[in-house]
Amino acid sequence: MTDVLFSTDALYDRVKHVVPAVEWPSFAEDIAAIEDLKRTRSAVVLAHNYQTPEIFHCVSDIVGDSLALAREAQQVEADVIVMAGVHFMAETAKLLNPARTVLIPDLRAGCSLAESITAADVRALKAAHPGVPVVTYVNTSADVKAESDICCTSGNAVKVIESLGVDRVIMIPDEYLAQNIARQTGVEVITWAGHCEVHERFTPQDIRQIRVDHPDAVILAHPECPPDVVDEADLSGSTAQMLDYVTRQRPRQVALITECSMSDNIAAANPDIDFVRPCNLCPHMKRISLRRIRHALETMTHEVTIPDDVAARARVAVQRMLAV
Ligand code: 13P
Ligand code: SF4
Repeated sequence: MTDVLFSTDALYDRVKHVVPAVEWPSFAEDIAAIEDLKRTRSAVVLAHNYQTPEIFHCVSDIVGDSLALAREAQQVEADVIVMAGVHFMAETAKLLNPARTVLIPDLRAGCSLAESITAADVRALKAAHPGVPVVTYVNTSADVKAESDICCTSGNAVKVIESLGVDRVIMIPDEYLAQNIARQTGVEVITWAGHCEVHERFTPQDIRQIRVDHPDAVILAHPECPPDVVDEADLSGSTAQMLDYVTRQRPRQVALITECSMSDNIAAANPDIDFVRPCNLCPHMKRISLRRIRHALETMTHEVTIPDDVAARARVAVQRMLAV
């Protein structure tokens, strides 16, 4: 154990502001094992911004929002991609880099948005609105993407919709994201009643209370929040746009209206910024742990596969998005 602590000392430095010293030894052994396994398996770990700091800062090779992870997954040359994120992110990586083995450390890492809609639902929407293009949030299964014209993320939704040059789209499955983006583009959106279980819990009253308690705090809200919450915030953007704003503008105090690990991960590298934390945890993201990443690499489970006919159609929608 002393050797393990010594070899991971430098890594602790990266998270010492957010991970108590007493917790570190329990992480250090798994981190050292994961680093060894990555070498022997020729593997890389991709981590979403909502992963906990010991995953995000200590074992990940690539980190980012959904858009960055999709872009970067395409370029991976290692044999194995471990997705420290949720299932739809692992599927997107597999779509974009089918020659790699893609592992998700816990099959229960789903998403309330992805679960809110099926391919049959999309076919019914298309039948009800013939000729209207279907813009699908990446937080969906490959089956749903396969029925879509183009995908989007919260980071590029405005650009994707504007690229279509139409005045009406079907935008699924996140009702709030669709309403928030409609207001920015002036394009009429036909929505679906899917919600992110993390962001739908924030209320305008929560934001007003932060203003009372922390009058100097800059408030950034994710566009998966209801529109009346976004209205109360100073700015709205994807997790990468939040990170970009905070690290460039360096507000003295900031409140990120999103998943809890987002603030932890930025705070780890920016101890001078004060984070107000009215956050909510994503139970799906939190299924992923160092222990489960290690187990995934030891046992090469759980491999993500997509039937060829579905993958071929879903890939077109994702690649159209990346081309915008
Ligand atoms: P982004 O990181 O793309 O903003 O997405 C947030 C999210 O909820 C992912 O599940
Ligand atoms: Fe899905 Fe929301 Fe969790 Fe992201 S934060 S994985 S959108 S439930």
